[in-house]
Amino acid sequence: MELLPKDSLEQIRNARSLVFLTGAGISHESGIPTFRGEGGLWKNFKAEDLATPKAFQNNPELVWEWYDFRREICKNANPNPGHLTIAKWQKKSNFVSLITQNVDGLHPRSGSPSLLELHGNIFRARCTKCSEKFHLVDDGLDHSGLKYCKYCESLLRPDIVWFGEEYDQNLLTKSWELCKQSQVVFVIGTSANVSVPANLALTAIRNGALGIEINPEETNLTLSMKHHFGGKSGEVLPKIWNELFPNESLE
Ligand code: OAD
Repeated sequence: MELLPKDSLEQIRNARSLVFLTGAGISHESGIPTFRGEGGLWKNFKAEDLATPKAFQNNPELVWEWYDFRREICKNANPNPGHLTIAKWQKKSNFVSLITQNVDGLHPRSGSPSLLELHGNIFRARCTKCSEKFHLVDDGLDHSGLKYCKYCESLLRPDIVWFGEEYDQNLLTKSWELCKQSQVVFVIGTSANVSVPANLALTAIRNGALGIEINPEETNLTLSMKHHFGGKSGEVLPKIWNELFPNESLE
């Protein structure tokens, strides 16, 4: 059975600007826990103790322990067919953009040629004093516990947007522009509980984009979407690809 009706397939094929907006759910099939819902990290851990500037000020060891633990999970995970389908689509067409809330590094590892990481990246740290950024693996800082700047020796922090912090203005402006201009928006694996990414999706819809949500659950955004697929993105996205491009194998 076809997933998408003919008119939507045509609309997607003809789109001159298509945005993928992803959240933790797209990496769930790779073995990375989501934040909310069943087995979600925020069920067992308190965000205010681990993911705020105050938490880091009070107990940097604990915050680094949490990010070191999660970085290990990400290191051992591999991109799944959801990530790989998006990467293939981006390579096929210059019209396809990717905005993610994920910090797990799986989109870049799947070969996505361009990516806006709204919430940072768990493999990066930045200096609390001079703001210099480091790649924890490439720069030889991939150990547990506190880490220090190679230039000014001050404490490093995870390069993550914590609760209560501002987004990178440059990234945000680019994301708004992409969403405003998009003719199709795929919203994948996000509970839409964080207002900035949820509003990016709504901006696309209000500016006329065809909205497609892939999420086993319904969200606050579901009613605004033209299509909701209640399945796993690693299964639904390859099916959509095969409907759109039947002569182009994903392999
Ligand atoms: P959430 O954990 O809030 O939501 C994950 C969503 O993925 C849920 O709606 C699930 O139903 C859905 N999901 C689970 N498995 C899926 C699958 N196989 N395919 C598709 N969807 C699936 O994650 P986010 O919305 O990304 O911030 O959370 C947003 C932000 O809140 C995160 O970036 C994080 C967190 O606090 C920071 O770390 C800064």
